[in-house]
Amino acid sequence: MSLPFAPLVHAHGAAIPAIGLGTFLAQGEGCSEAVSFALKNGYRHIDTAPRYENEEAVGEGLRRSGVPRSEIFLTTKVWWDRLGEGDLQRSAEDSLRKLGVDQVDLLLIHWPNPEIPLAESIAALNDAKRRGYAKHIGVSNFTVAHLNEAWRLTQEPLVCNQCEWHPSLDQAKLRAVVRGYGMIFTAYSPIGRGVYGEIPAVSAIAKKYGKTASQIVLRWNVQHEGSVAIPKSVTPERMLSNLDIFDFTLTDAEMAALTALGSREGRLVKPDFAPAWD
Ligand SMILES: NC(=O)c1ccc[n+]([C@@H]2O[C@H](COP(=O)([O-])OP(=O)(O)OC[C@H]3O[C@@H](n4cnc5c(N)ncnc54)[C@H](OP(=O)(O)O)[C@@H]3O)[C@@H](O)[C@H]2O)c1
Repeated sequence: MSLPFAPLVHAHGAAIPAIGLGTFLAQGEGCSEAVSFALKNGYRHIDTAPRYENEEAVGEGLRRSGVPRSEIFLTTKVWWDRLGEGDLQRSAEDSLRKLGVDQVDLLLIHWPNPEIPLAESIAALNDAKRRGYAKHIGVSNFTVAHLNEAWRLTQEPLVCNQCEWHPSLDQAKLRAVVRGYGMIFTAYSPIGRGVYGEIPAVSAIAKKYGKTASQIVLRWNVQHEGSVAIPKSVTPERMLSNLDIFDFTLTDAEMAALTALGSREGRLVKPDFAPAWD
């Protein structure tokens, strides 16, 4: 039986599997087991961060899976208090040591920090790439203004902006700018942390295709050009079903009906250090 690999999404030389495994709140043995299970069952993209305090556990899961490192797209990030020159590079070195790898595929600035000049952070991020710590670099939680500034400053391409996105959150403005720069829009909290089963417009479409509400929402996500989603689960059946979304296609009317659920109020992730969103 062939594994249900996700198709690759391309940007600036990076090829990222359209579905990745999120790992926020997955820790210890449960995290290692989830990562290993996911990789053994077709996932080829894993998302972690120092902030999740699980890089060692993710590394253990990578090794336990037996899947060659070269087949896995691995992302980590730099927390917003380590974005200065030297600090950022040391954060990346710490991540490589904890993960037990020589290089990550993608290194992201996790959140912008207005206290540290973006010029300094972007130069350090470029340096981390040149040192070979990361094959590709990118950003997360960047607004349109941050993106314009970051692209003015960077020497190396920024391959993605990882931001919250699901049908209840309208991200049209930011997505248009991300795509204008040829970047991938990586959606975090892409299944709204599991709430969509209670939304009638979603359940009706789910019933038609014999899929779950989360599968419909993930399909909506990756059916947009240049989109990748990283649903988190440590539950085997959910991990399998979140990847099993490539055997059907939503109609234009269904895509539009799901998009119409979106508003600026639909945001779930609202830390007090967040930027002024678009
Ligand atoms: N860059 C950033 O600032 C940022 C912020 C937030 C998240 N992220 C990344 O994005 C990933 C995903 O976001 P998220 O964890 O916030 O939310 P999410 O993926 O939308 O939802 C995860 C939650 O939904 C449950 N779930 C998973 N699959 C399900 C399914 N098929 N049906 C019903 N429930 C399901 C999970 O439970 P179980 O695990 O118990 O199955 C978990 O409680 C994170 O793990 C992290 O890697 C990045």
